[in-house]
Amino acid sequence: MSDLLLEVVDAEFRYSKGAPPAAVSINLEVRAGDAVGIVGESGSGKTTIGRGLVGSLHPSAGSVLVQGRPWKGLRRRDPVRRLVQMVFQDPYASLNPMLSAQATVAEVIRVWDGAKAKVAASRAEAVLAEVGLTGEVTHRRPAGLSGGQRQRVGIARALACGPQVLVADEPTSALDVSVQANVLNLLLDLRASRGLALVLISHDLSVVDYLTEHAMVMYQGRVVESGPTRSLLSEPQHPYTRQLIDSIPGGPPARPAG
Ligand SMILES: Nc1ncnc2c1ncn2[C@@H]1O[C@H](COP(=O)(O)OP(=O)(O)O)[C@@H](O)[C@H]1O
Ligand SMILES: [Mg+2]
Repeated sequence: MSDLLLEVVDAEFRYSKGAPPAAVSINLEVRAGDAVGIVGESGSGKTTIGRGLVGSLHPSAGSVLVQGRPWKGLRRRDPVRRLVQMVFQDPYASLNPMLSAQATVAEVIRVWDGAKAKVAASRAEAVLAEVGLTGEVTHRRPAGLSGGQRQRVGIARALACGPQVLVADEPTSALDVSVQANVLNLLLDLRASRGLALVLISHDLSVVDYLTEHAMVMYQGRVVESGPTRSLLSEPQHPYTRQLIDSIPGGPPARPAG
């Protein structure tokens, strides 16, 4: 049996028949515990690929397989769908403004596990504690939470059905710089504690470097370069990768020797 959780094979994504494809010739493999980055400037096709990975956009050519099965053929509640979950760029836009943190997470647990309200609520509390939210905060709605807390709720909601892969699309881009590192560290901790695989989408190569071991560089819907993240930084092969390195605020991140 293959240990591949996610596989993208020569995939092309389009939003309409007439328009040029938003991403082409995409190939990607994600195994348990992997951390893979997708990096590129705005409009380069990163979110499109992310949507393909979580099955919300089907490829117009090629395939996206989750545990060897195409997303396209899966029923609405096929258990395989639990395996891959998305953390969105803007937690405020992606959370239901009427639901408390606890209710947001409990809803996922009720839907997927058929848990009764009380059981779902207490399990939701446990998942929220895992992302650092406890006590009175868990009863607040999004408007009563800070940006960082809201993104923690978004992460808890993604974790609630027990995924093996998190696809995080610019998870810190909407946050104050002061809390960005906390959220990135939370993702690292969850990867370790849950054995989660991460697909980290970012325009910021230093963020991709911090979280991932392998990465692909996107430019205008195409992969221009891919390989170990550290090599992309230390020996960029493509001028566009060099450009991304030059755009890192404060210069390229210093790496420890060895
Ligand atoms: N819903 C959509 N409908 C039509 N075109 C889209 C849609 N979303 C993205 N695109 C186009 O697809 C291309 C890639 O966009 P996107 O994947 O969002 O890039 P990124 O996430 O790297 O900024 C862009 O040209 C964008 O205009
Ligand atoms: Mg995007």
